Amino acid sequence: MLIDPAAESASFVYSTMIRAITPRPIAWVSTVSPTGVTNLAPFSYFNGICSSPAALMFSPVNRPDGSPKDTLVNIRDNGEFVVNVVPFSIAQPMFETAGDFQYETSEFSEVGLTPAPSKKVQPPGVQESPIQFECEVIQIVPVGEGPLAANVIIGKIVLMNIADNILDDDQKIDPAKLDTIGRMGGRSYSRTTDRFELKPTGSTKK
Ligand SMILES: Cc1cc2nc3c(=O)[nH]c(=O)nc-3n(C[C@H](O)[C@H](O)[C@H](O)COP(=O)(O)O)c2cc1C
Repeated sequence: MLIDPAAESASFVYSTMIRAITPRPIAWVSTVSPTGVTNLAPFSYFNGICSSPAALMFSPVNRPDGSPKDTLVNIRDNGEFVVNVVPFSIAQPMFETAGDFQYETSEFSEVGLTPAPSKKVQPPGVQESPIQFECEVIQIVPVGEGPLAANVIIGKIVLMNIADNILDDDQKIDPAKLDTIGRMGGRSYSRTTDRFELKPTGSTKK
């Protein structure tokens, strides 16, 4: 099958891309509105992009009516957000926060999650998440315009808050203790419980 994205509907291209690019990590992003209402939503167009400075990106796409999502509205206003990592144990509450809540309503209280005060930015993290990245915006890059067009938010991580109970004896993050999930296509998700190692062979230089 060959697909020319320009000749297809945006929804078909979306469903093809999210089934092909897998598994995707999930940024569970907390922000705060100009009137102080906290907001929380998951984004799987997400990844780390750089270690010096520590930086990441995620991409809220416009709603089908072309309007920006609440997360983008808040970040445009004050330039701060927190990316919370999502382990399997809190997959369901993460999913619930993707619901269509009113702008004046906080997903924290609606879904029953605990806001954890941040140290360097205003938005709180999710207490139930073992890792919070406190971030300041570097740049917001629009990609396309109108419905489903993207706004790539590039953020500098100004503080990493990592729970001690997911560290191994060498003080490194233990993937088994972290137990993150990834997003596949549609309603499907994956776990990081099935891992393997690659070792250099004779034909591999590094
Ligand atoms: C696991 C998961 C990943 C998602 N990834 C994205 C994404 O990368 N970009 C996006 O615009 N919406 C994504 N969504 C949908 C948003 O979370 C949803 O539109 C949410 O209501 C946005 O909230 P907000 O208006 O408070 O920002 C995802 C939803 C789920 C459940």
